[in-house]
Amino acid sequence: MLRMDSVSHSFITPTGQRMEVLSDVSISVEENEFFTVVGPSGCGKTTLLNIAVGLVEPAGGTVRHVTGASGGRPGAVGYITQDSNLLPWATVMENVMVPLEIRKVKRSERREQAAEWIRIVGLGGFEDHYPRQLSGGMQKRCAIARTMVYDPEIVFMDEPFGALDALTKTTMQKILLDLWQTRRKTIIFITHDLTEAIALSDRVGVMTGRPGTLKAVVPVPLGRPRDVYRITGAPGFESLRNELWSLLETDLDP
Ligand SMILES: Nc1ncnc2c1ncn2[C@@H]1O[C@H](COP(=O)(O)OP(=O)(O)O)[C@@H](O)[C@H]1O
Ligand SMILES: [Mg+2]
Repeated sequence: MLRMDSVSHSFITPTGQRMEVLSDVSISVEENEFFTVVGPSGCGKTTLLNIAVGLVEPAGGTVRHVTGASGGRPGAVGYITQDSNLLPWATVMENVMVPLEIRKVKRSERREQAAEWIRIVGLGGFEDHYPRQLSGGMQKRCAIARTMVYDPEIVFMDEPFGALDALTKTTMQKILLDLWQTRRKTIIFITHDLTEAIALSDRVGVMTGRPGTLKAVVPVPLGRPRDVYRITGAPGFESLRNELWSLLETDLDP
């Protein structure tokens, strides 16, 4: 579904020096897979996603999107960024309708489809609220609805639940897993939360510190459907978490 080969990238710092951010990253993600990337802060995760969705041209390497057989509108890509990027002057309903407007969906259908997704993510009754009138979790729900409404076959998510409290975060994980399971999407997810990575993913890619490179890809052997509220008690959870920590800790600052 997505194939990145030997991707590398660098930025010029404010003092004019070249800083290598990504080095030789190769990732291959299957259709309907839930693939998560973890790595130390500043290792280039967001840059990697920006390259994957085509917002940034990599200095080296190639990115290829392959159209899948199922699970969304062929070629359509969703991107949920670290901050939800909702339009502050638009209501929940208006925010969710934006992608449909861009796609020139008929006005009557726009409202219907947006309302359906607002209901699915549990925001029914808040259609006329503005983003500032929503909690962090509700803003995330709105961002998810806005992405899912145009039915992308692949969705990229950059630490979407990082700023939420533990309870809200777990609820959002459940909503996302349910969506992924029923709508058959391919998801590429970034987090620095290992419990979250294990709860959600089929495989976890572990990155080194900057310049980030993929040091290991670890399969998550836990069965599905998963109970995100009790995931830490699932057989195999502890050993997998230890394995991921061991891979990460050599790259963390003391
Ligand atoms: N547009 C940019 N210009 C210059 N430096 C950047 C730019 N975007 C990111 N960087 C730098 O690249 C490094 C990796 O950033 P980022 O991809 O956001 O890391 P992560 O998401 O893993 O925390 C950081 O040191 C950051 O300062
Ligand atoms: Mg980031």
